[in-house]
Amino acid sequence: MYSQRQLDRARKLAYEHSGISLAANKDVMISNRLDKLKRLLGNENIDEVLALHESGKNIDIFISAFTTNKTNFFRESFHFEDLKDRVVKKAIESSAGLKIYCSAASTGEEPYSILMTIEEAKEQHANPLFNYSVIATDIDKEVLRHAQEGIYEFNKNADDFPLWIKPSQYFKRREHPNKHGEHLIKIKDILSRKIKFDQMNLMSPKYPFNTNEFDVVFCRNVLIYFNQDDQNAILKKLFGTLKVGGTLYLGHSESPLGLSPYVERCGQNIFIKTKEF
Ligand SMILES: C[S@@+](CC[C@H](N)C(=O)[O-])C[C@H]1O[C@@H](n2cnc3c(N)ncnc32)[C@H](O)[C@@H]1O
Repeated sequence: MYSQRQLDRARKLAYEHSGISLAANKDVMISNRLDKLKRLLGNENIDEVLALHESGKNIDIFISAFTTNKTNFFRESFHFEDLKDRVVKKAIESSAGLKIYCSAASTGEEPYSILMTIEEAKEQHANPLFNYSVIATDIDKEVLRHAQEGIYEFNKNADDFPLWIKPSQYFKRREHPNKHGEHLIKIKDILSRKIKFDQMNLMSPKYPFNTNEFDVVFCRNVLIYFNQDDQNAILKKLFGTLKVGGTLYLGHSESPLGLSPYVERCGQNIFIKTKEF
């Protein structure tokens, strides 16, 4: 058990280093994360662990322990259908390229789903030369390592992929090193060469992108971890990177908040930028 003071020290560190806002009812979750942190650092003394992070050391490990990285391929699959049937279709018809930003990429399933969607759309519209790129960021270096490696456990029972995706085009099978008879899947080069992963904190005062740089921004299932003021500030910065006419995809319980007058809703948590903020 941790004291209230220890929990509050962890809460303060999480906010300072990631913007993650942990309400009073999250004490059990904080306790679980502190357990994880002790394991990661191999130190059972939580006061020493907290003091280490308070002095600015090993912050990446702290962030890794405190972020929630739940994701899967084609999560909220209607967003990928919209990307394929509206956004990519339109870009192909107008001979434009696409630049896409995935802002909380976690272990990579979301940005690789974006890439597979575009590859399928290219095939569907018989346009193999369609030009696009995806930039994917996350604050957590550990999940980015996984994303870059691009190796996932294949679960025979999971219907991870929509019927219109041909997974064998995008994954190589690999023997599982530990589980006999099981296998892993590794992202093929045709996808990995189209994507760039980078670490970025959405709370940073300035993002390393140009104004109106992207045609599409994915910001899904991450805003929920921030307080309302920070959500507004993040949305405003992301919005600045999106072109007028570009599409913003948000997670199922997220909304554009203060940006509402500047967007048009065109589907479930799908927003088109209509004018500059
Ligand atoms: C629940 S996952 C969502 C992943 C994916 N977008 C999806 O919808 O499946 C949230 C991700 O947000 C990342 N995250 C949390 N705080 C962040 C911050 N301040 N800046 C950037 N990423 C952050 C976490 O590391 C985690 O990988």
